[in-house]
Amino acid sequence: MNHRDNYFLDKILDIISEEGSSDVPLIQFKHPKELEALLDLDVSNGVDDKELARCVRKILQYSVKTNKATFRNQLYGATDPYGLSGAWIAEAFNTSQYTFEVAPAFTIVELKILNHILQLFGIPDGDGIFSPGGSVSMLYALVAARYKAFPEVKSKGLRNLPELVIFTSEDSHYSIMKGAHWLGFGTDSVRQIKTNGLGQMLVDKLDATIQMEKDHGRQPVLVNATAGTTVLGAIDNLEDVADVCEKHGVWMHVDACWGGSLILSRKYRHRLKGIERANSVSWNPHKMAGAPLQCSVFLVREKGLLHAANCASAQYLFQQDKFYDITYDTGDKSVQCGRKIDAFKLWMMWKARGDDGLGLLADRVMKIAEFCSETIENKPGFRLVSAPLQCPNVCFWYIPTIMRSKAEDTEWWDLMHKITKKIKELLTLSSRLMLAYMPLRHHKNFFRLAFTFHPLIEEVDVLDMLRAIEHCGEMVTLSML
Ligand SMILES: Cc1ncc(COP(=O)(O)O)c(C=O)c1O
Repeated sequence: MNHRDNYFLDKILDIISEEGSSDVPLIQFKHPKELEALLDLDVSNGVDDKELARCVRKILQYSVKTNKATFRNQLYGATDPYGLSGAWIAEAFNTSQYTFEVAPAFTIVELKILNHILQLFGIPDGDGIFSPGGSVSMLYALVAARYKAFPEVKSKGLRNLPELVIFTSEDSHYSIMKGAHWLGFGTDSVRQIKTNGLGQMLVDKLDATIQMEKDHGRQPVLVNATAGTTVLGAIDNLEDVADVCEKHGVWMHVDACWGGSLILSRKYRHRLKGIERANSVSWNPHKMAGAPLQCSVFLVREKGLLHAANCASAQYLFQQDKFYDITYDTGDKSVQCGRKIDAFKLWMMWKARGDDGLGLLADRVMKIAEFCSETIENKPGFRLVSAPLQCPNVCFWYIPTIMRSKAEDTEWWDLMHKITKKIKELLTLSSRLMLAYMPLRHHKNFFRLAFTFHPLIEEVDVLDMLRAIEHCGEMVTLSML
């Protein structure tokens, strides 16, 4: 490391702590062209460190402060401080997770933490890998399921296979559609099963649809159950899905990217009952649990399958005659070559807090979400989309006074659709709160407040958020829409 690097590394911590301090606004929103004009981004001519620090400050000034309680826009929030320390260490030690040779201690860390996670999910003899995110984990699941059913697919491709079909709920994450496209199944091969009012897959419909596909000579390859849907936070009935998968001999994957963090809680983990029967599971500690992005785990029940399905046996990296135990060269299980040491971030959080510490954070996040949901249920003008909660997602409408006591016909809902979007805009522009809004199935636009382990959110913060929504909601006039 040269002197110049050291000088800047000293400065950077000051910059981060000043630009991310509690008195800076959540967001200073600028439209893209305005923002481009404000930032000095041209890289043609180098600048000195002082000037560089000025440019960086400006970029951070206009960046969203996701460490604030009022950043409730996504399924992630502030990072766990231990996880952040792990991320800095991992970056500073800049290595790749593929071979024991270049990442000896980090390889053991990954194996150790994966084993701990496998135990927790009830798949103690399984295998796993850290992946860049839930969408990539979905690719892993589809590849593993297809390889298990048709090992020849690896060399021969799709040309001799029967027509393959995949099953998922209509509320599941879109990554399965992308996966179906990328892996050559095609998006038409995905059967979207209807959900109930809470957003859980209708398992009798799943059963009937699988049977119908078989009757038509098509081959079911994978059922994707969701433990924590993106919007409503619904957890499919995993025991029932497992029964159907067993009956039809189909691979069961559980997308627990969001709700998988409930496994940490003694109080709430029963909601994931049945996950231990899955063939594969994906979980994103970078969502609810606050591991720094990206930190995602893919687990598989059958040991050896990840390697068999994914290995390319490159002799320049995975030489078979190395001087150490080459079973510790885990990289050929992965679709990636170079792979960040994401396991270390999670390991640091876990080592610092232990099972009980993380469990308490999971309990806490559910408690605050339940408080939010109960408050909304009893608050004039607010209306829940679904209850009771299964994950810490609270979905609701705010109905401004001007809309109350009117007939809730199609026109009324069309207006609510626009009002919700407008309230979101006012909240963002005033920097009071960032939350998500979306339509879902027959529902017109509504809000989603998603709660995460960090920062610790108190009841008073929730009341402030609802007050901000109410305040901006009452500012909306019909002429604004
Ligand atoms: C239920 C669910 N699965 C998968 C994903 C995809 O995860 P990633 O963003 O890490 O690709 C998401 C993302 O929000 C999700 O909500």
